Amino acid sequence: VIASIPIAPLRWGILGTGTIAGVFARDLPLSEGAKLVAIGSRNSSTANAFAATHKVPQAHGAYADLVNDDQVDAIYVATPAHLHAEHVALALNADKHVLCEKPFTLNGAQARELVSVARSKNLFLMEAMWTRFLPAMHQLRTLLAEGAIGEVLQVHADLGLAVALGPKARIYSREFGGGSWMDLGTYGVSLAHMILGKPESVQGAGHLVETGVDGHAAALLKYASGAVALLSSSIQSAGSQEAAIVGTKGRIHLPAPWWCPVELHVYPLDDRPSLSGRIGRRVAGSVSSALAGGGMARTTAGWGGSMSRWMARRAARPQRLHRPFSGIGLHLEASEVARCVAARDLESPLMPLNESIAIMDTLDQVRAQMGLKFPGE
Ligand SMILES: NC(=O)c1ccc[n+]([C@@H]2O[C@H](COP(=O)([O-])OP(=O)(O)OC[C@H]3O[C@@H](n4cnc5c(N)ncnc54)[C@H](OP(=O)(O)O)[C@@H]3O)[C@@H](O)[C@H]2O)c1
Repeated sequence: VIASIPIAPLRWGILGTGTIAGVFARDLPLSEGAKLVAIGSRNSSTANAFAATHKVPQAHGAYADLVNDDQVDAIYVATPAHLHAEHVALALNADKHVLCEKPFTLNGAQARELVSVARSKNLFLMEAMWTRFLPAMHQLRTLLAEGAIGEVLQVHADLGLAVALGPKARIYSREFGGGSWMDLGTYGVSLAHMILGKPESVQGAGHLVETGVDGHAAALLKYASGAVALLSSSIQSAGSQEAAIVGTKGRIHLPAPWWCPVELHVYPLDDRPSLSGRIGRRVAGSVSSALAGGGMARTTAGWGGSMSRWMARRAARPQRLHRPFSGIGLHLEASEVARCVAARDLESPLMPLNESIAIMDTLDQVRAQMGLKFPGE
């Protein structure tokens, strides 16, 4: 009998002690094959406080000390977007594998540079687009691969949150690479890229607020297949926060908040309303008589009522697939890093590096059209 050799857990160091660093530290014990061994901050007191809260064995008061800690295998970069390029390069140049928060970088050029450093040094690198590793997203990819909704025609996704505009609001800061599109729109762009690949054209628009970044934005992506993606983001108000994938044989709905879904609703095409059958003929009849002979307001009111009741009856029968997960879900991306590193894979097939570059290119194209440049660009 050959005993299986246990794989040593991946030893993590977190770079930065902000909001998401704390979430990652709390989720990490839920990951298979992960051990949090060190924290790095710009100063010792913050590092020590984080280490005490999260029971981290080693606290470093400088990022350089963290990346050079020989007890650390992988670094999670949890600093604001304008620092990702610098901090990922710091970790790679110290021969550490890296998981970097979204948005991956400030722009496509920075993303290309980091990917080339990681590849030249044979190190693992991945954008921390945690949504992709949640069970509902695995289910979504399986359904699409099985052709459950046929050929994908449209992707819709909204991520709008009301974020208060305070003096320290990273998300409103141009210097920090903020704005609704970079911080929240990137989720929808990532979803569209995961499902449809690289778009052949990108049209975008956004409204710049007093701090110089976009308060809300939207984009229309067009694909060689004929598919389109319609994406929106906001930091000024809460949007629908839903996503839908529409195919030739049905649609899949990701209810709010779609970027951390615990269920999917699958609507086969047969369950969608069509203007056929007895009620359909009656509805179509009301519409044509309204169009033909005045009395539009009265007839339309009647039509609207019966139409919506009929649609609701026919449409409200999705197949509901529950895919819950524990914690906030960041441990699942950490498990993927551990799996890849153990297999000596330098990137994850679920979040490939060329896709992170393509996502940054799409974000860039929309930013260019709304006139948002970051310092140094
Ligand atoms: N996955 C998600 O759901 C999610 C959620 C929120 C944010 N994020 C992403 O995670 C990244 C960090 O966001 P966050 O909300 O955690 O930010 P945050 O709370 O502001 O923390 C950022 C940390 O970066 C470090 N830092 C280094 N240089 C800095 C500088 N010049 N100014 C401010 N902080 C600096 C600080 O740690 P030290 O003081 O210890 O050095 C700070 O605590 C962003 O890219 C964001 O988009 C992801």
